[in-house]
Order: sequence, then C-alpha cells, then structure tokens
Amino acid sequence: MKSPPFEIEFESAPQLESYATDYPLIFLSCCKAAGSNETCLDKLTGGSISRARAQSQRFCGRSGQLLDVSGFEAKGKLGRIVLLGTERSASAEAGVSVDGEDDAADLDLKTDFISEIFSEGARVFSRAHAIGVSSALWVYDGVRSKDFTARPAYVSEGALSALLSSYRFDDYRTEDEHGDRVLRLRKLVLSVSGMRYSMDALETEMARRRAECAGIFLARDLVNEPPNELPPQEFASRISSMSSASSSLRVEVLDESALESAGFRALLAVARASEHDARVVIMHYEPQELPKGSPASSSSLPPLVFVGKGVTFDSGGLSLKPAKSMEDMKMDMGGAAAVVGALCAISQLGTKHGFNRACVGIVGLVENMPGGNAQRPGDIVRTLSGKTVEVLNTDAEGRLLLADLLWYAQERFSPCAMIDLATLTGAMIVALGEEYAGYFSNDEGLASRLLSCSSSSGEKIWRLPLAQAYDSQIDSPIADMKNIGGGGAGSITAAQFLQRFIKDGKISEKSSEKSSKKKDVSEASSATKWAHIDIAGVTWAAKARLGRPQGGSGFGVRLLTSLARDFSD
Ligand code: BES
Ligand code: MN
Ligand code: ZN
Repeated sequence: MKSPPFEIEFESAPQLESYATDYPLIFLSCCKAAGSNETCLDKLTGGSISRARAQSQRFCGRSGQLLDVSGFEAKGKLGRIVLLGTERSASAEAGVSVDGEDDAADLDLKTDFISEIFSEGARVFSRAHAIGVSSALWVYDGVRSKDFTARPAYVSEGALSALLSSYRFDDYRTEDEHGDRVLRLRKLVLSVSGMRYSMDALETEMARRRAECAGIFLARDLVNEPPNELPPQEFASRISSMSSASSSLRVEVLDESALESAGFRALLAVARASEHDARVVIMHYEPQELPKGSPASSSSLPPLVFVGKGVTFDSGGLSLKPAKSMEDMKMDMGGAAAVVGALCAISQLGTKHGFNRACVGIVGLVENMPGGNAQRPGDIVRTLSGKTVEVLNTDAEGRLLLADLLWYAQERFSPCAMIDLATLTGAMIVALGEEYAGYFSNDEGLASRLLSCSSSSGEKIWRLPLAQAYDSQIDSPIADMKNIGGGGAGSITAAQFLQRFIKDGKISEKSSEKSSKKKDVSEASSATKWAHIDIAGVTWAAKARLGRPQGGSGFGVRLLTSLARDFSD
C-alpha cells in the first residue's frame, strides 16, 4: 500500500515572526482586503505583499485567483508568498460575514465551505509542487476564517485535498525527462490560529482523512492498473494481502470450483470465455475491543454489506464493443475497487474511530471476453437465486454477476443494509457525466442517509426512480427476465434488473401456498434495505482537473466509509 506522500502538520499558536524564516513558501488564503495575518506578514516582509497587491492589475482576492509575492528578503532568506483569493462574488458583494457557530442553515454552510476548502487544498498542492519546495505553510485569513477555526473537519478537508492531489500512477513509467513528476514536497503545515477545538480533536479528524486517502489511493491504483496486470486472480491476491495489515480484517476467496458448487452460474457464464478464472472475494471487518460502556457487542448486529462489480476487462463478450468504447474498459472494476478501498479505510480506523458495526465487502471478479466457449446472445442462465435470465446482450454482463452476488449476500449475511457499486451503464454517463453518480434505493431511510454521507464527503450522488413501468421492460417471453430493456432509460432498467434479486419481504405465490397466512407479517420485516449506485461516469476521469488526476478517481471510498460510520451509531 502507498504510504502518505508527504507529512501534514498543524500549528495552533502561529508565530508569524518565525514563519518568514522557517518556510520557503507560505500560502495565505485571503480576502479582498488584508486580514490580520496578512498585515503582520506584510510588515515582516517589508511591505512586499501590499506592493504586490498594488502592482497587480487583476488580483482582488476573488476565489480562484492567485498572486505570487516573491523575491523579498526575510531575515536573510529569500522567501515566497502566494496569496489565494477566497472571496466569492455573491458573498463579497453582499459583504456577508459568516459565523461558524451559527447552526442555522448549517448543512449548506458546511457543504459549500467543504468544497471551497477542498479546491483550495488542491491549489496549494499544485502550486507547491510546481515551485518544487520541500516544505510549505498554509495560513488561512480568508472570508470564512471563523468557519475555518470552528470545526476540525474543515482544516482536515483542506489537508486531505492536498494529499489527494499529489496522487500519481507512475509504476509503468521508465522515463521522465524533466523530472516534473517527482514529488519534492515533504511537509505541509496548516496554521490554525484561534481554533475552537483541541489539537487532539483535529488529529483524530485527520487520522480519518489519512485512512480515507490510503483507501482512495488503493482504489485508484486498482482502477489504473492495466487489465493484463490485474486479472481476477491477481486482484484477489492483492485483496488477500490487505488482511495482514489489519487484525480486524479477514479475507475469504472463492475460487472457480467453490463458485461452481455454490451455484454462481450467472457470474460464471460471464467469465466463461476468459483465460482467467473468476473469483469472488469476501472481506469481513469485525469491530474489535469495543469501547467500555457500549451496548451489547455490535458485531452481533447484522452487518452492513457492500457489493462491488469487478469486471477486470469488459470487451462486451460476443456482443463485442467497438474499439473506442473498449479503450477504457479496464475501469469496469471501479465498484470492486471502491469496496476494497472502503474496507481498507474502515479496518484501519476501527472501533477507535467509532466503526462499531460489522461490515462485509463482496466483490465479483471476472473478465468478459468473446471466444468459442463464450455465452451467446439468446442463452438462458439460471442465477444463484433460481430465477432465469435470457441473455440477449453479453455486454450487459455487470447485472448478471451482481444478480448472484446480491443474492448470495442476502442469503448469507441478512444485512442491515446492502449497497452495491457498479460501473453498470453507459447511459449513466449520458445522464450525469463525470460529476454525479446515479443512485437507486428501495428504502427512504437508506436513501437519505446515503445522501447526507454524500454531501459531507463531496462524492456527489443523484437519485433516480425505480418503478413498475420500467420493470416491465425486462420481461422475457421465455424466461423470468431478459438482461436488457427496450430502449430508453438504460440505467433504470439495469437497476430494475438488480431489484429483481432483492428480497422484498413479500411472499412469492409459491411459498404463500405452502405457508400459513400469518407468515405475511414475519416475512415483511425480512425485506432487504438496498441501494444501487451506478458509478460508470464518476469512476474514471478522462482528463485531469484541479485536485482530480486523470484516470481512476477512487469514487465511493469516502461515501462507503462515512456510511459505515453512520451505521455504527
Ligand atoms: N461496463 C459497461 C458500462 C460502462 C460503459 C461503464 C462506459 C463505463 C463506461 C457495461 O457492462 C455495459 O457494457 N453496459 C451496456 C449495457 C447495454 C448493453 C444494455 C451499455 O451501457 O452500453
Ligand atoms: Mn458490458
Ligand atoms: Zn461492464
């Protein structure tokens, strides 16, 4: 696993006098007008900040603006200061002052500030990297200084963003002529003058961000890894090696013969023509050493289950994809990567950070290839649940393996809630692009919990409907269902397909004949709370953008980690 790329430290009692000598580079998040830290630094640097401001034609402290103040001498050393604007036009004009302790409209306040601080962290890193310093200081003197000092979440969010921006996938590069990619930064110090919480609280919050960062880097690596280097067996053994890093994580691997005897026929049908055997990997996080005074061992509670689609390469099978659409199909295991990343973060944090709920991650790892032995359009497969599927398009393979995985998860674990992540449909990219993932749920409570975890973690999701009218589109004339819909709403018909494998607590006609009428009530409670997140658009960034490198994004790691935390209370 990748170690954190550089150190993050915090400074609570800033000594501005020594800053100018201790740091070759200082970032100052600022407003339109100079704040108190700026005024002080300006004095220490012989007025170079105010001179630079006066000379600049453009810089007015607006959010996104940068101003370089370089070449001044402070106590015999050459230092450099970069001003980062924080004023947003609306609040700047209205002169809004925001009080961090005001709980009114708190959620909005929180999420928009989190995204601001997140982009600032990215700017800080990219500038420090471009300049090539080994250490840098970040002082916050911006519009929302009061917010900044109100909660450890904001400061650590800025730090996390800087860490995430530093991600590179260079394992296969042998040449770098200019050395531009080499990371020289060793330490970033955040100065939080006047913070209204303890340093311990900040370090605890930061520990959580570091673990999330490790999980995200792991997920990005897995997605970026080329498909020849990461077939199912290799993917499985990478997961197995994780268990040695944490005593609260147990990994179980089902190989092809185990899958056959368990009846994963739909999953195996997808894998059939590949040279590489399929694997299903089950990761168990068991909370250990519960804190004193906590209620009866939470590990006896039903676990939270995450299911991930792990198609290590999706050629489409006999319904072969055109070359352009196949280029990125090594990323078709992004759901599995996110589940693995989340379990990595959760098990690293453990009960010490309040992860008191057992969590299970299940990933189905297959390669979808054409060949003489491949499944054909028109084949009918009998899924693990017993339901039959007419496979009319072998490129709609994700839902086939998820059908078996979802069923298996419910039968074995009776989860308190089950969330699947999958790069399931191209239609999702048409609908929401790279910004939001689409999600579906059969449970209002779960849907709203997911949404609130999404807004605090910055991984954006947007809900789409499940409805009978869409469901009828996947009826088959000769089997229980077919694996493609009739035309429009491709992401929704895919979700409807998955929902047919979710226990809804209703008695099927067959079983109601056999059982007594009373069963109605008891079985109704066995409905599985389920959500499906289609991450086809968000897993892969075609181009790099601020704070987001090109390639695998690690989307889902933070969302699932916060959900696991949320289910612990
Ligand atoms: N893995 C693809 C979906 C996908 C496409 C993910 C582009 C990321 C980027 C999935 O297996 C697939 O091929 N889906 C088909 C379904 C269709 C045949 C009903 C699609 O979306 O075209
Ligand atoms: Mn496909
Ligand atoms: Zn696929």
